Amino acid sequence: MPLPSDERIIQLANDLIAQFDVLFGLHPGFRPAHAKGVMLSGTFTPAPEAAALTRAPHATRASTPVIARFSDSTGLPSIPDNDPNANPHGLAIRFQLGEHVHTDIVSHSADGFPTRTGQEFLEMLRAVAAGDPSAFMASHPAALAFAQSPKPSPASLATEAYFGVTAFRFINQKDEARYGRYRIMPAAGLKHLDDAAAKALDGHYLFDELASRIAAGPVQFDLLVQVAKPGDTVDDATIHWPADRPIVHLGSIALTGYAPDDDLHRRIIFDPIPRVDGIEPSGDPLLELRAAVYLISGRRRRQAAQAHA
Ligand code: HEM
Repeated sequence: MPLPSDERIIQLANDLIAQFDVLFGLHPGFRPAHAKGVMLSGTFTPAPEAAALTRAPHATRASTPVIARFSDSTGLPSIPDNDPNANPHGLAIRFQLGEHVHTDIVSHSADGFPTRTGQEFLEMLRAVAAGDPSAFMASHPAALAFAQSPKPSPASLATEAYFGVTAFRFINQKDEARYGRYRIMPAAGLKHLDDAAAKALDGHYLFDELASRIAAGPVQFDLLVQVAKPGDTVDDATIHWPADRPIVHLGSIALTGYAPDDDLHRRIIFDPIPRVDGIEPSGDPLLELRAAVYLISGRRRRQAAQAHA
């Protein structure tokens, strides 16, 4: 996972991380966003139609081991799960294709993002930190729409839907390419709580519930791809595609237990860019920037962990 060579992207990535530090405080060894989380392991099994969309190895092999991290939003390592700001929740998945070979999906439980670019996102975070984002929201309708969209707390991390948000270019064996966006749907069905019900629960209810659920059996999700029509905007995370766009079933994810290595949680750096044959970036400006942000942030986290060792 290389750092981009463009100095402006590195600078913006550093500015964004610094802004998260301002918003949430510095918590060495924790992620500046999605700080509270847990790692699980399991298996991905492709659906019969997966290979028609992409020739990526995990779409054509019988099965692929995965590790997955569920998280609460914000850089607060002990945010109560029932705090409204714990939404949207995160789900990051790594497909282990071989020794040191992998491809990731980084998703969250909101279908969209407030800004098209990282620069605008930085401006939004600065406005939030200054205490009054109203002027920013007034001039950025997509950010306002995202802020106002309902984000109810899930009954369980296994009854939430997660969205990849940025589009990718999927290419199959015949070199046919289609743009698509991931959505990860819970096999247990969608179940959310109203504010009063969420408030009545414990601040660790989601991670406790996950522990008892996984002890009773696999936690399963369907990995789907919403496929764009020619002409749909594929480089803007704020734009939704019409609901009639076809959905391809890529496969099923069965999470069966906690990741064996405790320290993996701190060491692992998920990569928003797939970097695998058969799935390419779409030209969305968030992708390269986020790859830099996560890498710089992850390296800082690893160093903090070493300093404490
Ligand atoms: C400019 C836009 C964004 C910025 C600056 C940003 C920033 C960050 C940072 C600093 C981290 C911590 C990385 C680490 O230390 O490993 C992070 C993690 C995360 N972000 Fe973003 N993010 C952005 C967009 C998104 C989007 C669009 C999504 C959802 C599709 C998303 C979902 C997540 C998730 C799930 C994690 C936790 C990953 C893990 O479990 O390690 N972020 N983000």
